[in-house]
Amino acid sequence: MKKAHELRLGDVIPQGSDAVLLRFQPDAGLAEDFRFEPGQYLTLAAGPVDARQWRCYSLTSAPGAPLDVLVRRVRGGLVSNWLCDHARPGDSLTVLPPAGHFTLRREGEPVLLFAGGSGIAPIFSLARQALEKGAPRVSIFYANRSRASAMLVRELEDLQTRHGERLEVRYWHDDEDGLPSAGQLAAFATARADRDVYLCGPEPFMRGVDEGLAQAGFDASRIYREEFDSAPDEPAGDAGGERLTQLTVQFGGNTTTLPVHGKESLLAAMLNAGLAVPYACKAGECASCMCRLVSGEVERLNNAVLDEDDVADGWLVACRTRALGDTLEVRFP
Ligand code: FES
Repeated sequence: MKKAHELRLGDVIPQGSDAVLLRFQPDAGLAEDFRFEPGQYLTLAAGPVDARQWRCYSLTSAPGAPLDVLVRRVRGGLVSNWLCDHARPGDSLTVLPPAGHFTLRREGEPVLLFAGGSGIAPIFSLARQALEKGAPRVSIFYANRSRASAMLVRELEDLQTRHGERLEVRYWHDDEDGLPSAGQLAAFATARADRDVYLCGPEPFMRGVDEGLAQAGFDASRIYREEFDSAPDEPAGDAGGERLTQLTVQFGGNTTTLPVHGKESLLAAMLNAGLAVPYACKAGECASCMCRLVSGEVERLNNAVLDEDDVADGWLVACRTRALGDTLEVRFP
């Protein structure tokens, strides 16, 4: 089972006009737990004392170095904004070990990368790794609202200094260039065809890149995406079945009973019912939605968090668990 650890912040470094880079230096005894591959993320708990929540942030440092994650302010972003305002060197934060599958598939091959805003965090890591592993050409299309808001610019310039023409970065600033159209993205991709493609950014940006890649005739099987906030929540009441289970949830000192419809995940049912239970990845990778089965039967879907002993102990990840039977009860620790 993945266990959270208290990690001290070694440094907090401003990035662009509205972001910070948090640098953790885990104790030597935690080195194994926090070993990671470029492109993976950390899940950490932060926020006001009475409203702490879990969030995922991509790692930007190289394996073996301190753990750096990039946090950008977002409108209404409880955790990100709190971190930008309150995180200070020496603070401790609760952090889960690295997770995620947005990693380089083929070493030594040219790659095409698209980053929108804070999506540069995993894209930067992949670019650096691809270059270090001998990719002959790494091309990044990097879109931001403005020059002032762009992050990791100095780090990208350092990479270019080290790797010369093997790295090309096309900076795009919406306030100067307008929003990139699918046609413009297609043109950038067409000139760099036959490569694996990696993309990360806000949903509208990702949609535009998808359209551009489709116009450019890219093979969908070679397109890899990182999506933190858009993992689908199954709609309540229309999730593939007649079954209705009454789920009782013990969380935060309260007990709530709510319906789980058909193949809806327990997490989706809880969120649809307005429960502020912890979650981050919604993909069975980060462990933030772990809870214990008190009674009833469940169907467990694949996840990267629990081993057989955990399952025998009754642990489950709510985002990758469905209800079976008429009633079910779970308890959050
Ligand atoms: S939300 Fe990450 S494992 Fe469920």
